[in-house]
Amino acid sequence: MTPLLKIDDLAVDFISRGQVTRVVDGVSFTVNAGEAVGLVGESGSGKSLTSLAVLRLIPVPPGHIARGRIELDGVDLLQLPIDQMPEIRGRKISMIFQEPMSSLNPVMTVGDQVGEAILLHQRMSREERRARVVQLLKMVGIPDAEARLRAYPHQFSGGMRQRVMIAMALACEPRLLIADEPTTALDVTIQAQVLGVMNTIRQETGTAILLISHDLSVIAEVCDRIVVMYAGRVVETGPVAAIFDAPAHPYTDGLLRSIVRAGHEARRLYQIPGSVPPAGTIKAGCPFEPRCARKVSRCAVEMPPMFDHGSGHGAACWVTAPANASDGEVR
Ligand SMILES: Nc1ncnc2c1ncn2[C@@H]1O[C@H](COP(=O)(O)OP(=O)(O)OP(=O)(O)O)[C@@H](O)[C@H]1O
Ligand SMILES: [Mg+2]
Repeated sequence: MTPLLKIDDLAVDFISRGQVTRVVDGVSFTVNAGEAVGLVGESGSGKSLTSLAVLRLIPVPPGHIARGRIELDGVDLLQLPIDQMPEIRGRKISMIFQEPMSSLNPVMTVGDQVGEAILLHQRMSREERRARVVQLLKMVGIPDAEARLRAYPHQFSGGMRQRVMIAMALACEPRLLIADEPTTALDVTIQAQVLGVMNTIRQETGTAILLISHDLSVIAEVCDRIVVMYAGRVVETGPVAAIFDAPAHPYTDGLLRSIVRAGHEARRLYQIPGSVPPAGTIKAGCPFEPRCARKVSRCAVEMPPMFDHGSGHGAACWVTAPANASDGEVR
């Protein structure tokens, strides 16, 4: 089966004052049709840039895609003429961001804005369009949708505005919805509701989701599979259950120990010591080595390949590699 999205060996550079900094380095993963994949990692790990590369929205210059392929239904988006990208962004891939207020027009009603998003992609009469707006707003759980069409964004709460953004993103019936920290600005209860909306739309529309978050517990609410990034690289990937039960990379283990699990005490349990190295400062070896409690001498000198831990679970770690491991392609 051809995956819906296949990112293969993606590398992104930023160039400033003649200095080239590699901020995404050899990232590979797939998203199948209808699947929800979570991209997780600390701030600065390259999550947003990876997703922006998919839409070819990295600012060039100073950014530059140095190598790799990004296939949508087998077609390499990086080879398409750039004037074909609006068509892809409008019809096949939608994206929502962290801050819904900055993406909504404050002087236009919510109904008109969702209607305009529909107008961009589909021809239909005014009446049909209005019905579709109501349908979309209902799908994302906006109560009393008919009446709220005439409201302005400032009359909505943050969670409701994020729902409107999701409704607009769904207007074109995308195959893939990329959501970059969609709930980070929301408080915990509202966050759970918006994640619930993501689950509903996935069930009702079959849209695949690439959910980006620094929080593994957010990812676990929605996703089937997790891709863990650290310092511009993928360090672990696998089904949610496998990663939560038996993380195979010490970094993922640290991330898991730092989240508040449902039913447990509501406090931060653990913080990984140290911080992500600034982009471009990684020398040879594993990027996590300076912070790793389990490192061995090899880790500082040789970058571990992705080792196969079975059933689609892979980790780039020398220490946890299975004894008879081959560095199979785990994507
Ligand atoms: N316009 C830019 N110019 C130079 N460097 C950039 C630019 N945008 C991002 N970077 C660098 O690229 C790296 C990855 O950034 P990215 O935004 O993808 O991280 P992220 O994982 O999304 O982090 P966050 O969780 O904070 O959103 C960072 O180190 C950042 O400093
Ligand atoms: Mg980001």
